[in-house]
Formats: sequence, C-alpha cells, structure tokens
Amino acid sequence: MVRKGIPTTAQKGLPFGRRPAGGVADVVWEWSKSGTRHAARNRLLRRLPGVSTDAAYRFGLVERAHYAYGVRRATELAARLGHRGVTVVEFGVAGGNGLLALAEHASYYSTATGVAVRVVGFDGGLGMPPAKDPRDLPYLFGVGFYTMDEDRLRARLGAAELVVGDLTETLPHYLHSRADLLREHPVGFVSLDLDYYSSTVTALDLFRGPEHEHLLPRVTCYLDDLPGTIEQIGEAAAIADFNAAYPDRPTGRVLGLRAFTPLDPPWADQIYVHHRLDHPDYACLEVGATGDQLPLEE
Ligand SMILES: C[S@@+](CC[C@H](N)C(=O)[O-])C[C@H]1O[C@@H](n2cnc3c(N)ncnc32)[C@H](O)[C@@H]1O
Repeated sequence: MVRKGIPTTAQKGLPFGRRPAGGVADVVWEWSKSGTRHAARNRLLRRLPGVSTDAAYRFGLVERAHYAYGVRRATELAARLGHRGVTVVEFGVAGGNGLLALAEHASYYSTATGVAVRVVGFDGGLGMPPAKDPRDLPYLFGVGFYTMDEDRLRARLGAAELVVGDLTETLPHYLHSRADLLREHPVGFVSLDLDYYSSTVTALDLFRGPEHEHLLPRVTCYLDDLPGTIEQIGEAAAIADFNAAYPDRPTGRVLGLRAFTPLDPPWADQIYVHHRLDHPDYACLEVGATGDQLPLEE
C-alpha cells in the first residue's frame, strides 16, 4: 500500500525540482535515510507495552534524546562533584519545542538524581538576525526565519527561564546578574542551535573569561547544526576558532560515543564536551564514572 503524506521537503534531500508526491519512490527515499529509520524504530519501541518512562530514558527513546543525554551527563557530573544544582542551556529557542523538551528531561533527571536542574533558553525572539559573516551560512538561513510566539511559549514554560534579546547583550548581562545562581547551579549542558557562525562565537563567550564558578569542569555540548556543513563554516568553525584561542579549554567531539550509547543514535556524532583543563575541579575523581579494577580472568 502506498502511504500518502510522507513529511519530506526539498531541504531534506530531494533532488532539485522534485516535489514529494507520497508515492512509493518517496516512501523508499525517506526510509533509505538512517535518521528516519532510527526515529521510527524508537517511536515503535516507546509504544511497546511494558516500556516504562525509566526504560525510555535509559534507552534513549524519549523525544530529543540528545537533550536527555546532556541533562543526564550534567546531573551525574554535578552529583559526583558534590553540587546540589546544575544549569542546562539552549542557545537558539525559536518556537520553543526544544526548550520544553529540555525542561521535561530536567524534571525527570532532577527527580532521579536529587540534583536541582535549572533550564535557560536564549533567543532573539524575532527570528534569525541579519548574517554578519559569510560563514553564517547566509545561503541557507534568511532574516526572520524561526520566529517565536513568546506569549504562547511563556505560558508553557513552568520554571524554565527564557531570555529574549540578541545574545551579544543578553549573555554578558545574564552571566553578571545571575552569578550567584550560577555558582550554586553551574552550567553542565549546552545545546548550540543558533545556526550562524557569528552567533555561535558569541554563545561560546560562556566559556571565555577567567572565571570558572559558573561552569562544571566538563560541559557536555550538543551541536545541532553540523550535519551538511563543513569544518570551516558555521558551528564547526566557531568551535575551531575557540580551540585555537584557548588551548587549555579544548572542545571536541566525544570519540566512539555512538558505539556505547544504546541503539546507536546518529545524534551521538554531534555530542561534544568542553574540557576546562584550567578549572580548579578538573582533576577531581568522578567516583563511579568508570570501573576501577581489571582483575585477571580465571
Ligand atoms: C534553528 S532556530 C532554533 C531551534 C530550536 N533550538 C528548536 O530545536 O526548535 C535558531 C534560533 O537562533 C536564534 N538566534 C540566532 N542568532 C541569534 C543571536 N545572535 N541572538 C539571539 N538569538 C539568535 C534565532 O532567533 C532562531 O530562533
């Protein structure tokens, strides 16, 4: 049977000039992509009888499992280092679906670990600002893409915080005005989803400066905009510039993560960690993070 209405667009890889018609070829096209297959399999597994919320989190079957992974890593590290709270951040909120998912995962891991999780989203609120640099991918993103219905989003935010305004102004102000809160809840996970090289450079100001107290010694990062770009533009270029300027604070892709994450998720290739080698807690042993003996087998 041919299913109608497969949600696919030219941006998702149809050759130029082809419009999806919902025919067999479009269905095959869609299913030929591993991302589609992974998402469909996860939706199916999530619906199986007996799959509890705990199991869904454990196996990454929840919506935006990469955000759940980031919150888990942040709360685990905070707990191991004796922090009672942690902050998780989404840079680039748009309509707000990601921020709401982040808040839901924060609530789950807060209960599971006993670590209080603050959630903060940063966005201009008016859609994409004008590009400032050719590496902003101006051929892909137009001014005003991804506007926000701020009132509607705020009505659903709960305790999550939404900071609206251009990041060049809001981030330094936030770091200054919330310094006490951040000391009690250092940042442990950051989602970078600002699309532009220049905006990502600004977001990485979070990691510049001499202070460490607002950050855990290792901050898990999810880089949303890597697929389809190259190392020299967009988010990857912003990270490369940061790494060149801060050799004591390397931010890099977690090697081999896919192989030891349940169900082999494609998002594992977009998980980075910001290592602050100069953080006073960098060398504190994370008890329980790895096995501590390898006895000779019988
Ligand atoms: C792709 S959208 C984010 C999507 C969202 N994370 C989600 O998952 O639904 C990118 C957002 O980055 C925001 N943005 C880009 N540059 C910015 C800047 N300099 N300051 C504030 N927001 C910015 C835009 O307003 C836009 O809403």
